[in-house]
Amino acid sequence: MDNTQKFIEENKQRFLDELFELLRIPSISADPAYTQDVLDTADKVAEFLTQAKVDNVEVCETKGYPVVYGDKIIDKDLPTVLIYGHYDVQPPDPVDLWESGPFDPVVKKTEIHPEGAIFARGSADDKGQFFMHVKAVEAMIANDELPCNVKFMIEGEEEVGSESLGDFVKSHKDKLKNDVILISDTSLVAKDIPSLCTGLRGLSYVEVKVKGPDKDLHSGLYGGAVPNPINVLCDMISQLHDQNNHITIPGFYDDVEELSDEERLEMSKVPFDLENYKKSIGINDVMGEYGYTTNERNSIRPTLDVNGIWGGYTGEGAKTVIPSYAQAKISMRLVPHQDPDRITKLFTEYFESIAPPAVEVTCTPHHGGQSYVLPIDGKGYKAAKKAMTKTFGKETIPFRSGGSIPIVALFEEELKSKCVLMGFGLDSDVIHSPNENYGLFNFYKGIETIPYFFKYYAEN
Ligand code: BES
Ligand code: MN
Ligand code: MN
Repeated sequence: MDNTQKFIEENKQRFLDELFELLRIPSISADPAYTQDVLDTADKVAEFLTQAKVDNVEVCETKGYPVVYGDKIIDKDLPTVLIYGHYDVQPPDPVDLWESGPFDPVVKKTEIHPEGAIFARGSADDKGQFFMHVKAVEAMIANDELPCNVKFMIEGEEEVGSESLGDFVKSHKDKLKNDVILISDTSLVAKDIPSLCTGLRGLSYVEVKVKGPDKDLHSGLYGGAVPNPINVLCDMISQLHDQNNHITIPGFYDDVEELSDEERLEMSKVPFDLENYKKSIGINDVMGEYGYTTNERNSIRPTLDVNGIWGGYTGEGAKTVIPSYAQAKISMRLVPHQDPDRITKLFTEYFESIAPPAVEVTCTPHHGGQSYVLPIDGKGYKAAKKAMTKTFGKETIPFRSGGSIPIVALFEEELKSKCVLMGFGLDSDVIHSPNENYGLFNFYKGIETIPYFFKYYAEN
């Protein structure tokens, strides 16, 4: 990999300039106003794959946004690595909290990244991360050092639940055939700790509506005598946790995987600074399920959170009104063995059962997803571990993340191969938030590490 590494070193600035081109296109999959931008981004990704000398580059149509495919098959007898990533991004709002434009990438120095970090929506999630693979593969091809076959599958709907990708995978199994799936869309435990994500949480997402009177009413004339949907909704939501912050939905914990004491002890060894954690997000104290540590609460335990709530009057000044309805979006992060469809059903039944008869309640499910666990004795994990240990110069540790990449479980089921989650982000990247950023260190460390993954995977 010597020539490859030299090539990377010599092309660092160009790689960054090219990433900026991708970051400038607002590929917001959630907002139809950006449809053309999302499509343009797919074309741009295809261009970069072609430039990397990847073959069979194709912008594949789906029911939704296209999947960008490309491959380099050097020898049918060698293993094939499938790289997955997403070129769509989250909406940037609230835009006024950004210190530079979300789609005007700039490098700025930060406390964690004195050498600079790239500030832009998608810099870490996931354009900056999948682009590392494009550049690493370009470097290996240019130097005749690609040790196995490679395929790319970069989608444009991850941030809205990968709605079309399932069908695409099911109908292109042959095209996507691989030995291992490599993904950089997660984080490291810390900047200087080589670490591999071995678990992702699943997701169940429900929108609820509580309907009261058929119109907004005068709160003086009617208040106290009729159901107030916002009061009722808040009361119902508050019943979803008990005083120990346990979720009260009957059956919710039935299938939850309980970790052994040994596993929990292993987990507790992952470096974690509670004071720093609180400071980094501006809270006085942490809060969560009784009997579990912060790291357990946000990775191996299921959760229920209100993501948004609205209804009634929220404009300037005061308007005395009993609202006609109230709504909320509620997400549940799930752990291994919890089935998202079953959880959605349990939630719906329970939520409807606690509604007072004076209101009408409707629950509408949104996209969900299975959790994922990667065993650490597989070929893929071992190759990634060896690669990271090599480029960081210290031992790589496994950890479970609280985030979700719902499509990962489907990949394993349909393509029968494991997904290795070799992400290079950091929690401080503030993905989905204002001022998302990705360290230059992380970007280049990823490009440097990926070729070793290929090398060690092929050797194994
Ligand atoms: N890349 C993230 C997931 C992630 C980030 C996992 C960091 C682990 C560490 C992904 O793009 C994402 O945001 N997923 C969504 C789910 C999706 C259905 C919107 C999530 O976790 O909320
Ligand atoms: Mn992502
Ligand atoms: Mn995301």
